[in-house]
Amino acid sequence: MNIAVLGAMWGDEGKGHITHHLSRNFDWVIRFNGGANAGHTIYRDGKKFVHNLLPSVDFRYPDVNSYLGSGMVIDLEKLRDEVMEAEKTYPGVGKRIYVDKDAFIVERKHKEEDKSTNGHIGSTNRGIGPAYKDKIGRSGKRIGDLFTEGKPDLITGYSDVLLDLIGKGVTFTHALAWQDVFNASSLLFEGAQGVLLDINHGIYPYVSCSDATIGGIIASGFAFAKLDKVYGVAKCYTTKVGEGPFPSELQGAEAEELRKIGNEYGATTGRPRRVGWLDLPALRYACRKGGITHLILTKMDILSGRDVVPVVHSYGKEPVCPDDFCSAKPQYMDVLGWSDCRDFAQMDRFINEVEYATGCYVAYVSCGTSESDILAWEPEAA
Ligand code: IMO
Ligand code: MG
Repeated sequence: MNIAVLGAMWGDEGKGHITHHLSRNFDWVIRFNGGANAGHTIYRDGKKFVHNLLPSVDFRYPDVNSYLGSGMVIDLEKLRDEVMEAEKTYPGVGKRIYVDKDAFIVERKHKEEDKSTNGHIGSTNRGIGPAYKDKIGRSGKRIGDLFTEGKPDLITGYSDVLLDLIGKGVTFTHALAWQDVFNASSLLFEGAQGVLLDINHGIYPYVSCSDATIGGIIASGFAFAKLDKVYGVAKCYTTKVGEGPFPSELQGAEAEELRKIGNEYGATTGRPRRVGWLDLPALRYACRKGGITHLILTKMDILSGRDVVPVVHSYGKEPVCPDDFCSAKPQYMDVLGWSDCRDFAQMDRFINEVEYATGCYVAYVSCGTSESDILAWEPEAA
């Protein structure tokens, strides 16, 4: 069985938490897009971990391998830090990490360029845009170039980092070389960012630069892997970091309260996240554009205890392109709330509204940060 776990909105939906929980059932967990702009938060044995580049694998399970696909842009120094950190708790974990040589390198100059040019988007300053720009402009450097003779400048800059990674057992390879292995394995593709941040389908220009939909899996060289399910992860409210239209955004005291109870501060940059109510037209748009077949709703505990939960049910006009998000006139409705986020009967109305609005089954809900907080909503859908 092959599945994908995608961000259904503007990122930070809880993809890491969900991937971490599901990973034990898979042979490989594969990141296919983005780079260290992602911040995937995981709680394991009561401790908090943030993965920026490594897939959100539960390292306690020794048979789960990690793959960093060719669609990614990789800051090798950051990857070394992450691998070294993981090795401290899980010695030998490096041997279970594979990196595609066709992934592009985020060079130091890319991070500098990001700081000086992408402030208007609210970039994470991790060099993502400039690295993808060089890739598209055909002047980018791939990790495989470091293994190619005759590129002394590049090799001088990164050879120590590469040697450290190889020293920890990290394998640098190509996806196609492993096709037989992948075909005989179960694969979990972990997306970074979200459909609304996707370079092709997001709210351009307020997007990141990679393919955050199922298109990114194909772009990373995994067209041969047929997907059985595509889970889209969304919070039961909405958050966004960075600039751009956000039709259901809250302001003032109400926003402050939700940000506080939801602890909505960026895992990568620490920035306060913009917050708002669940936006069903945006979620419907994302499901259709992203190839999502099932939904996972997170942070149900945060909205516990409200008599009603507001959601946007219409923009007046159904959004079909980025401009429709700028001109949206959000119309709200109140949905019956819940006091106990483990009581399915209480949450039924809310889940029904989401399923009706999107045409996707809700497969899991999450009501906290530990693995026992992830509950299968519809066993047949999960
Ligand atoms: P995860 O994987 C939330 C946002 C940035 C900015 C825009 C462009 O944790 O969900 P970039 O540095 O990519 O050029 O920034 O995209 N952004 C994210 N927001 N979660 C993320 O990743 C994000 N990755 C990028 O805040 O608005
Ligand atoms: Mg995040």
